[in-house]
Amino acid sequence: MAIDNKKYDYLFSNLKTQTIEGIYIFGKDDQYLINQNYSSITNLENQIWSDLYINLELVLDQYSSKEYLLGIKSLPIPRDRFPDFKAISPIIKNSTGWSLLPVAGFLDEELFFEINAKKQFPVTDIIRKSPRFDKKYHDRTIKNEEGYTPEPDIFHDIQAHVPFLMNKEFAEFLADVGRLGHEIIVDTRKLGPELVAHNLKRLQNFAWWTYEFGVIKNNGNADSYRRNNNDIDYEIYGAGIISSCDETNNIIQCAKGKSKRSKFLPFDIEEIIMTRYDFSNLQERYYVIDSMEDMYKAYYKNKSLFFYEG
Ligand SMILES: [Fe+2]
Repeated sequence: MAIDNKKYDYLFSNLKTQTIEGIYIFGKDDQYLINQNYSSITNLENQIWSDLYINLELVLDQYSSKEYLLGIKSLPIPRDRFPDFKAISPIIKNSTGWSLLPVAGFLDEELFFEINAKKQFPVTDIIRKSPRFDKKYHDRTIKNEEGYTPEPDIFHDIQAHVPFLMNKEFAEFLADVGRLGHEIIVDTRKLGPELVAHNLKRLQNFAWWTYEFGVIKNNGNADSYRRNNNDIDYEIYGAGIISSCDETNNIIQCAKGKSKRSKFLPFDIEEIIMTRYDFSNLQERYYVIDSMEDMYKAYYKNKSLFFYEG
């Protein structure tokens, strides 16, 4: 895969080694499509979902963005048991044209962007900390000492990402990112594998610092949707934050000045696409957008940044 090419990596700042050792990565030629077998879900798996959901429910109600709050309220995502893809997918389809595509795990970027371009969102059907999850990786360790792993799970995919697909602007934006990723990979501009790899990493950085780990300036406009007013300067919209209790609490503690672990930086598209990330720990930085509209505008206006020619 093109991602192995490192010739232009010296251009990135904050470069972290990124190994996904041991994780299965599914490509086009693999059996990556699955059916959610809802009747096989165990009480323990429902309990894990419920514990994760309830732990985050109130805190997200207070600190997540309006798009998220509206999305989660409009979908049948249960708090006490696994979500049923068949109940959720038609509602999103009806609203923004996206549908859920159950997949076996982590997809390579070629497949991922191609699927997104078709307005399909890949979702996994197993949950962290469950015997089924452990069984998948019974012969290897894919976590660091603190238990972090980049292996996707149903909680991250459904609880954190999927609510945003109910928002028309976001849904169009995400499909466009898919098309752009696909355009980079098929390399119609004949830039060659090294530059394709570099440009793909730029797009991955963009995705990471925006819809995976981004925050929005809190202007108080979403408080009417909350039970308690948001009392920090930021709203959370990154799905990597939303599905993590530790990451969400880290944002709140840092925003309240109770921790100095991470900093909040102004969003600058040229900076974020050149800033690599470490997915094995809490983020040391969060980029702050003024509004979702500002982030979309920056993206649509600066697509040429993803076709660096060397
Ligand atoms: Fe994600």
